[in-house]
Amino acid sequence: MPMKPQPMKKPDVTPAPAPVKKGPAPIQPIRGMRDILPAEASYWKKLYREAEQLSEDYGYERIETPVLEETALYVRGVGKQTDIVEKEMYSFDTAGGEHVSLRPEGTAPIMRSYIHHGMLNRPQPVKLWYWSPMFRHDRPQSGRYREFWQFGCESLGDDDPVLDAQMAFLAWKTLKNAGVESVVQINSIGTLESRANYKNALVAYFRTKRHKLSEDDKKRLVKNPLRLLDSKEPEMQELKAEAPQIMDWLDEDSKAHFMQVLEYLDEAGVSYQLDPYLVRGLDYYTMTVFEVTPVSDNADVAKLALGGGGRYDGLAELLGSGRPVPACGFALGIERVVTRMKEAMPDLGAPEKRDVFVAQLGEQGRKKAFAIFEELRGSGIRAAEALSKKAIKAQMEIANKMGAKWAVIIGQKEVLDGTAIVRDMDAGTQEIVDARKVVQEIKKKLGKE
Ligand code: HAM
Repeated sequence: MPMKPQPMKKPDVTPAPAPVKKGPAPIQPIRGMRDILPAEASYWKKLYREAEQLSEDYGYERIETPVLEETALYVRGVGKQTDIVEKEMYSFDTAGGEHVSLRPEGTAPIMRSYIHHGMLNRPQPVKLWYWSPMFRHDRPQSGRYREFWQFGCESLGDDDPVLDAQMAFLAWKTLKNAGVESVVQINSIGTLESRANYKNALVAYFRTKRHKLSEDDKKRLVKNPLRLLDSKEPEMQELKAEAPQIMDWLDEDSKAHFMQVLEYLDEAGVSYQLDPYLVRGLDYYTMTVFEVTPVSDNADVAKLALGGGGRYDGLAELLGSGRPVPACGFALGIERVVTRMKEAMPDLGAPEKRDVFVAQLGEQGRKKAFAIFEELRGSGIRAAEALSKKAIKAQMEIANKMGAKWAVIIGQKEVLDGTAIVRDMDAGTQEIVDARKVVQEIKKKLGKE
C-alpha cells in the first residue's frame, strides 16, 4: 500500500548547519535530557510567577535541597519496592565511598531537611515550596524525561484535612492561573493498618484470578499488590471492576478525614473526581492521595498526570524523626504543564515587543548609543539595541521585527551636535532632539509622563 504523505512537522529549532571542516562529532545531550530553549522561556516564566505568587500568598516559604543525597534517604523514604527506587535512580558511589543518588523527587529530602534543622520545634505546620530539577532513569517517551522539573508545596507537622484540601487546591489553582484547565482525581488509601487489611483482601481476590494476570502483574501481586490497581494491562480493567474497593476497608477516622477533604474542595469550587483505583507509585502515602490531569478531548493527553500528591504521615518516622510528623504535599511536572500551556496560549511564545530601538552609526555614535540605551532602560522604558551591527538598514530591520514604535538614531553628526534623531517607525517621520532630553522625549511619546 502506498504510504500516505505525512504533514511536515516544523522543528522547534533550526537544525545545526552541517559542519564544513572535518573534526570531532558534535556532542549530543544525554538521552531523556533536554535543553530548555528561549522559545519556551516565556511559558516557564509565567508558570514560575504563578507558582511563586500562590505559594507565598498561602504562606509557603521557598526551600532548596541538594541535588545529591544519600541513597538510603530514598530507599527508606520512597520505598524499596517502588519503581523509583527499584529501577529509576541515578545512584553511584563517590570517591569518598558515599552511596549517593540524584534527587528523583522532592518530598523525602524536604522531610530530611525538616528533621535535620529541628523544624519540629517551629510553629506547625511548616509550609515549604520548591521549584527544582529531578532525575529518574525512566524509559524516555512523550512527557517522560530523565531530567525534569517539579514545582511543589509541602506542609509538615499538621494532620488537619484542610491542609490536604489546600494541597489539591493549590495544584489545581496554579494550573488554572497558568491557563491550564484540570481535574483532581482523588482517593483515600487510609492508615497503614487499614491499608494492610485491604491489601490482604486484594491479594486473596487476585490470587483467584492469577491465571488471567500478565507476568508483570503476577510480580506486582507478590511485591506490591496495590499497584495492581493502576496496572494498564487491558485484561486488568475487567478484573479491577470486581475487585474489593479500598473505601470499604477504611477505618472510621480515615473516612471522616477524607469526607472533610472533599467538603473543603466543594467549598473552594475545585473540579475533582473520586477515583477508587488511585494508589500512587510512592510508598510514603497515607490517607489522601490525588493526581491532577488536564481537561482534554484526547484520551492520551487526559490521562498523563500533570501533578500528584497526598498525605504522608509515616514518612518522618521512617527517616528518624523519633516522633510522628503528619504531613502532606504535591508536585507538578513543569514540562508537562508547559506543553499544555503552549496549546492553551500559543501566542505567549512570541518575542516580547519593545517600545524603542536605539540605532547607531560610526564608532562615536555607537559609544553614545551604548549610554543612551542604558539611560532609557534605567528609566523603565522597554528598549532594544543591536550595538554590534554597523549598517543602519540591518538595524532598522531588527527594530521592525521587535515591533518598536520609535527609534533613537545617533550618527557622527548627532554626536558632534549633541542631538539624536527620534524616528516614528510607522509614519516614517523623524525629528531632531537634544541628546540630553531623549529619555524625556520618549517618555512623553509613550505617554509615560
Ligand atoms: P510524582 O507523581 O512521582 O510525585 O511526580 C509528580 C509529577 O511530576 C507527575 O505528575 C509528573 O507531572 C511529573 N513527572 C514525574 N516523572 C516525570 C518524568 N519522568 N518526566 C516528566 N515529568 C515527570 C512526586 O514526585 C511526589 N514527590 C509528589 C508529592 C509531593 N507528594 C507529596 N508531596
